[in-house]
Amino acid sequence: MITVNHIAQLRSFCDDARRAGRRVGLVPTMGYFHEGHRSLMRAARVENDVVVVSIFVNPTQFSPSEDLDAYPRDLERDDAIARDEGVDVLFTPDTAEMYPRPPLTTVHVGDLTAELCGASRPYHFDGVATVVTKLFAITGPCRAYFGRKDYQQLAVVRRLVADLDLPVDVVGCPLVREPDGVAMSSRNAYLSAEERAAATALVRALDRAAEAVRAGERDAATLRGLVVAEVDGEPLATLDYAEVVDAGDLSRIDHLEDSTDVLVALAARIGKTRLIDNATIEVRGAQVRVDLGVRS
Ligand code: PAJ
Repeated sequence: MITVNHIAQLRSFCDDARRAGRRVGLVPTMGYFHEGHRSLMRAARVENDVVVVSIFVNPTQFSPSEDLDAYPRDLERDDAIARDEGVDVLFTPDTAEMYPRPPLTTVHVGDLTAELCGASRPYHFDGVATVVTKLFAITGPCRAYFGRKDYQQLAVVRRLVADLDLPVDVVGCPLVREPDGVAMSSRNAYLSAEERAAATALVRALDRAAEAVRAGERDAATLRGLVVAEVDGEPLATLDYAEVVDAGDLSRIDHLEDSTDVLVALAARIGKTRLIDNATIEVRGAQVRVDLGVRS
């Protein structure tokens, strides 16, 4: 594995690889790797000849009141994990490399970013969309791997690639959970033991909604109510949002029609830590398929 800090180095490495007929896979991350990140690296390893992993804690996707400075970092550990996963290139630019001057250009993906996490983090997805577009421009034609843990982010990235005709195949990968069901996240490192136990409220809330759909419930407001009740029942948790939306365009729905794919998404604060989680549910007549991801 080689580590590169400069845009020009990564660009020429990827150009050379493609010229030699090698397929390039890109895994954009902010580091502090866990099994979720590893699963993306593994998927990229299987499907490409060259695997590039970027680590960049992108300041433009954090608002001033958020956790940019506290965001966990451990480059030595990440380096060892990336080697273990057979990564070829670790791209670790600093902020001056990625933003040598305050950027005047922002990639804004309308509609898809207005609700869910976009409602409480108004500039977040502009930061994400812009840095991901930069990473795609630097890497060039590639497959790029994103987790369904950040379902709205994945939808935003798919849409910007389609709208801007970027030469990138976006690959969505399963949400990876801890053995007790809590979605893996670098931010879980912030939780005290008590808070970590309370964090199971999110997946319990999704389970409750999924069980209700399996039992025949099709009213979105009722399902949302079940999620809200479960999170409200956890004293250490404060709900940010819970929504039942169309899994394709993220628009609100009232009723789970037959042949719809719905996303149940929520965000909650456990103490000071904001966690997100989601499940997708396919309704095909009486048949219901729930995707809560995989437990590691
Ligand atoms: P980060 O939070 O480090 O996540 C990097 C990638 O790992 C994202 O695609 C995310 O969805 C995926 N991931 C995180 N936790 C996961 C889990 N439990 N299961 C499956 N995949 C998981 O997302 C970002 O960084 C940034 O916004 C980024 C896209 C790098 C832009 O700065």
